[in-house]
Amino acid sequence: MGLKGLKESSLKMILFGGKGGVGKTTCASAAAIYLAEDFKTLIFSTDPAHSLADSLGQKLDGEPKEIKGVKNLSALEVNAENALSKFKTEHEDEIKKIVETGTNLDTEDIDSVFALPIPGMDEVMGFKAMIDLIDEAKFDKYIVDTAPTGHALRLLTSPKLLDDWVKVMAKMRWKYRYMIETFAGKYEPDKGDDFLLSMKKTVKRIEDLLCDQNRCEFIAVTIPEDMAVLETVRLISNLGKFGIKVRQMVINNVVQSDGCEFCREKRKEQDKYIDQIRVKFNGLKTTIIPSCPHEIKGLKTLADFKNQLFN
Ligand SMILES: Nc1ncnc2c1ncn2[C@@H]1O[C@H](COP(=O)(O)OP(=O)(O)O)[C@@H](O)[C@H]1O
Ligand SMILES: [Mg+2]
Repeated sequence: MGLKGLKESSLKMILFGGKGGVGKTTCASAAAIYLAEDFKTLIFSTDPAHSLADSLGQKLDGEPKEIKGVKNLSALEVNAENALSKFKTEHEDEIKKIVETGTNLDTEDIDSVFALPIPGMDEVMGFKAMIDLIDEAKFDKYIVDTAPTGHALRLLTSPKLLDDWVKVMAKMRWKYRYMIETFAGKYEPDKGDDFLLSMKKTVKRIEDLLCDQNRCEFIAVTIPEDMAVLETVRLISNLGKFGIKVRQMVINNVVQSDGCEFCREKRKEQDKYIDQIRVKFNGLKTTIIPSCPHEIKGLKTLADFKNQLFN
């Protein structure tokens, strides 16, 4: 059985996640080619070790690039570091103003605070850049090729991290506002307040999208091996904690041939894990993808892979 429901027009964002090397990028690229048949589609890679460009056989960067040879498909590789420096440049004035008015720090101290790296903030901004593109609504479907499990889960905690950061900034603002109201009577909101409000809205938008099963779907990709299955169990349970329900899974690299002893033995072992997956994830739709004798790279092999993924 192939993946189902991805062409539902309400479904906007589809994320592929799982252990390293199981076929996330391949599945995400093939799904993007499939969706581009009927929808304007954008595929993002959020894996810092990007391989989307290699998979699609075309150079990519941080801006959407049309994929030659696939009508309606564009792709980009999110550069989290660049997204953070862009954010800092764009909002330097507002951020510094909030810190300046809400603390006793002098300009020099504020500059050093501003230059300090905030752990995880680059990823937050990478995610925000993605959400901003979704908000621009230039595409109908957005596919996310995520990094291996731990990294992908960190990415999904980014709304919380951004929310915590906004709360700290808001506390500074309240202090300032209280002082102004106490001593001057009336407080006039400035661009610092507008900025905080827009950040708060961003957090809400990201959370709403991720948890809305009609608009967002997370597809787990795994292979029938013990370590991959264990990691998939952890992934799905952690996604549940974020309110993200996984409805379908790809079990990739399944041996089909029974023409030799090696293949028969391998398949016997794989069947054990496929059964385990079906018992552990009762109710989850599974799509079995055979192991191919050749690498899946470039549009032609991806088109064949797509036919298997959506048969
Ligand atoms: N069903 C398959 N049969 C053969 N090779 C595959 C299959 N699925 C993926 N591959 C190959 O495995 C490698 C890893 O796949 P990739 O999609 O990059 O994994 P991930 O993104 O999870 O790290 C790639 O070289 C890809 O071509
Ligand atoms: Mg990958």
